[in-house]
Amino acid sequence: MPVNAYLIDELRKILGERVSVSPSELYCYSSDASQIRGLPDYVLRPLNTEEVSRIVRLAYENEIPVTVRGAGTGLAGGAVPVKGGFVLDMSGMDRIVELDIDDIQVVVEPGVIQDKLNEVLKPLGFFFPPNPGSSAMCTIGGMIAYNASGMRCVKYGTTRHYVRDLEVVLADGRVIHTGSKMLKSAAGYDLTQLLIGSEGTLGIITQASLKIVPLPKTRKLVMAAFESAEFAGKAVVKTFSSGVVPSACEILDRTSLKVLKRYDPKLVLPSEGDVILFEVDGTENSAQEAAAQVMEVCSGLALSLKLAESEAEMAQIWAARRLVGAAISRLDPTKSRIYVGEDVGVPMKQIPKLLEKVQLISEEFDLPAMKYGHIGDGNLHVALFIDVLKEEEWTRLKAAADKIHRTAIELGGTVSSEHGVGAARGQYMELQWGPAFEVMRVIKKALDPKGILNPGKLGL
Ligand code: LAC
Ligand code: ZN
Repeated sequence: MPVNAYLIDELRKILGERVSVSPSELYCYSSDASQIRGLPDYVLRPLNTEEVSRIVRLAYENEIPVTVRGAGTGLAGGAVPVKGGFVLDMSGMDRIVELDIDDIQVVVEPGVIQDKLNEVLKPLGFFFPPNPGSSAMCTIGGMIAYNASGMRCVKYGTTRHYVRDLEVVLADGRVIHTGSKMLKSAAGYDLTQLLIGSEGTLGIITQASLKIVPLPKTRKLVMAAFESAEFAGKAVVKTFSSGVVPSACEILDRTSLKVLKRYDPKLVLPSEGDVILFEVDGTENSAQEAAAQVMEVCSGLALSLKLAESEAEMAQIWAARRLVGAAISRLDPTKSRIYVGEDVGVPMKQIPKLLEKVQLISEEFDLPAMKYGHIGDGNLHVALFIDVLKEEEWTRLKAAADKIHRTAIELGGTVSSEHGVGAARGQYMELQWGPAFEVMRVIKKALDPKGILNPGKLGL
C-alpha cells in the first residue's frame, strides 16, 4: 500500500509523532519469533483506549488491516501483519491501573510485562500464575489474545482462567466491557472467554481485570529419569491418576538433557535417560507429602529419582529449562531450531503414543528432534532442527511438521496447546474442528464484517 497522505494526516491528528512509515521501523515490525514475515505500512503507538478506538474507526472506514503487537514473542506469526496495513504497538500501554487486593485482582493495560506484574505482586503475597517461557518480556495483552500458558498451568490453568473482564475495541471502534469485577455471572454470553485466544481477530484488548492467587509457601522438585520417553510418559499418566497434582510437570528428553548439560555443565540434573521434572507446591508438609508420593509412584519405572536440594538448585534448573529451546545450537552449531510443529497437545493418556509417534516421524524424515515441554498437560514442544542453508532439509522439515500436526489431531489432540494458530497453523483448523470451525467463521463475520482485524490468521 503506498503511503497515503490523507491517512498520515488523520493518524497524526490522533497520535502526533507516534506514527511511523520509515522503512527501517516497518522492517522491525515485520516478524515475531516464528518464520512468518509481513511488512506493515504504518507503525502506530497508541497510549490509551481512545486512541486505539479512533485508529480502528479510521481503519474500518478505509478498510485497512489492523494487526496488534505486544512484545513480538509469539511463535505462530500472530503479530505479523501478513496483509500489511496498521500495526499497533501496545507496549506503551503498560500501566498497572489498579492493585485491588480486597477483590484479589489487578487491572492492567495490555502492554504490562508478565514478570513485572509478578514482581509487583510478590511482596503482597500473590501471583498471576500463567508463565510462558517468554515471561521476562511477553505482555499480558499478548498472553490473553493467545491464551498463553507455560509450566505452572498444569495445576493453575491457563490465562483464560484468570481473566474477569476485558475492555475491548471492536472492529468499528466501539468500546465494550466483556465482564466485570464479579467472581461469577450468569447473565448472557461469555464474551470474555470468546475474546481470549481469538488472536486479535475479533477485537483489540485495551484493559484487563485479572484474578490473582496467593503464592504457595514452598515448592519442591522431583527429578525422575527413565530408560525411554514412552516410559517417562507412562510415569506421568500414573502420577496424575494416583491423585497428585504437580504445580509443574515437564519432560526433558535425552536430547534436551544433553543440550542442557552442554549449556551449563554445573547443573544438577540426572546423568542419563529421559527426564521428568515434577514440581509440587503447598505448605512444607503438603509439598513434602506430594513429593514423596511422586517418588513412590515413579519408583518402579524410573532409572533414577532425586529431590532438588535447595531453592537455588531448583531456580537454576528452571532457568535452564526456559532456555532449552534457544540452547539447542550447543548440539550442532551448523543447525538451527525452526519453530514448526512445535506445540502439539494430546489427552493425557495418549502422551506415550505421541512420544512414540514423534520419534518415528523424526526417524522417517531423518531429522533430529528434541522433545521437551509441559507434558503434564499433554503439551509437547518438538524441536526440529536443520541446516537452514539446505533447501532439501526445509522440505523434509515441513513434511515432518505436517505429520506431527496430523498425528496430534488423530490422537484427539490439538495443533497448538499454547503458542496459537496465527498464520502458521490455519490449514489445520478445519481438520481439527470440523463443523465447529464454520461456527467460528460466522462469529468472525458478525464481529468483523469487513475482515480488518488481523487478517490472514486462524485459517479464517
Ligand atoms: C517453552 C515455550 C517454547 O515452553 O513454550 O519453552
Ligand atoms: Zn511452552
